Amino acid sequence: MKFVVTSGNIANQNADCIVVNLFEGVTLPGGATGAVDAALNGMISSLIAAGDIEGKAGATTLLYTAGKLPAARVLVVGLGKAEKFDIHAARKAAAAVYKALSKVKGVKHFATIVHGAGIGGQDAAAAAQALAEGALLASYRAPNYKREAPENGPALCTVVEFDANRLASIEAGVRRGERIAAGVNLARDLSNEPPNVLYPVALARRAQTMAADAGLQCTILGEEAMRELGMNILLAVSRGSANEAQLIVLEHAPAGHAEEAPLVLVGKGITFDTGGISIKPSERMEEMKHDMSGAAAVIGAMQAIARLGVPRRVIGVAACVENMPDGNAYRPGDILTGMTGKSTEILSTDAEGRLILADALAYVARYQPKAVVDLATLTGAIGIALGQQAAGLFSNNDALQTALLAASQASGERLWPMPMWDEYMEVIKSDMAEVKNSGGRTGGVSTSAKFIEHFTEGYAWAHLDIANVAWTTAERDALTPKGATGFGVRLLVDLAEAY
Ligand code: BES
Ligand code: MN
Ligand code: ZN
Repeated sequence: MKFVVTSGNIANQNADCIVVNLFEGVTLPGGATGAVDAALNGMISSLIAAGDIEGKAGATTLLYTAGKLPAARVLVVGLGKAEKFDIHAARKAAAAVYKALSKVKGVKHFATIVHGAGIGGQDAAAAAQALAEGALLASYRAPNYKREAPENGPALCTVVEFDANRLASIEAGVRRGERIAAGVNLARDLSNEPPNVLYPVALARRAQTMAADAGLQCTILGEEAMRELGMNILLAVSRGSANEAQLIVLEHAPAGHAEEAPLVLVGKGITFDTGGISIKPSERMEEMKHDMSGAAAVIGAMQAIARLGVPRRVIGVAACVENMPDGNAYRPGDILTGMTGKSTEILSTDAEGRLILADALAYVARYQPKAVVDLATLTGAIGIALGQQAAGLFSNNDALQTALLAASQASGERLWPMPMWDEYMEVIKSDMAEVKNSGGRTGGVSTSAKFIEHFTEGYAWAHLDIANVAWTTAERDALTPKGATGFGVRLLVDLAEAY
């Protein structure tokens, strides 16, 4: 969908539908909504009086203007209670509008005011960003392999602002929102693709194309290059697969910042996780195509960071491997030594995410990072702890943890701090090797984080376990369709800008 920003009166717009809003409890709308109400001879206020329009968050009412206005339709979207309203509510309202209008066949072009920029009291640029993000996230369609193309929703949105002095901020906000949403939707696309289409080499190719487009440097390491580096733990996970592993390195080094200590983002990119020899039950195994959602979030965030021109050095690394069982596959009982020289005993070939991260995190030490954040669909247990409400945050650095929590607040992508006590380390000590890759069921989220921490040397580090938030088996809200969510992209963009 394209956005055009213009100044004027929403009531005069010639579009298939004009969109105005209403806070819960308002009986006589003012501002833009009031102007449209007046043009419709009080239709909106009488529907409020009748109880048909309540202004509840995300509720939409479609009205027909019967020639009283240039546009044939008006959509009224509820913003909820004014005291609860914030930028996240503005984003959700825009998403609700898009969803409602995509059900109306005749609406291909809608004009809207910026929700929250009026009496909502939000910063105009931030509200405009939320508007574009919300509509674009709601407009997302997953890759489709059916012969008949699915029907599309509106393709054009005119953003209308009465006050011409605010036009520049609104334009900037809309363009920001577009770039960020494109990053989220790219991450969703990558994660939703079937595992036969998106194997490691295919993922690397997509990253390469994106990088050329967005102006990022891109380096791909294949298995031979990784063998030379001694990344034997990562390579062991790949051994059962016919598909070659890839380490994707994306670098954003804007002029004047090319030499600074970078923020490094690392993503788990298991393009399919069968569990390997410790094979998973077949029920819902198909969901394991999403086991590369950490890598997808890093790639999507890097695209957005490049397109936004974030003034700092950021490096994104995606460790892409397929975890399969075969005659060559690594085994429970194997002892592996990777890039750091630290040995690890394999108890479960299904605890493969922490293994590929061990070598990917050893690899990134070469950048002397200011901080490293990894994102991984690491444990089923994080969902038992937190449900779908937040990703788990594990860190050994207070400043980085504080910055991540601030980015979480700003983006609305929730993180919740989880413990990293030394005692968890005792649980994963091995008799024959320094560590083992599973500490058993209890405390599984923290012992997996301690395992990863063991391979981080010389930099501030945080780990986000996104296994419970990276995809959803049913649509969660207007912003979050079924399938991949793109969780982490907006958070990482905020972190890159603020930390
Ligand atoms: N990719 C899975 C984690 C996962 C499971 C994510 C279900 C989303 C839904 C990971 O590789 C895994 O298999 N983890 C094991 C670890 C265990 C063997 C120590 C788990 O969580 O059961
Ligand atoms: Mn696994
Ligand atoms: Zn996995």
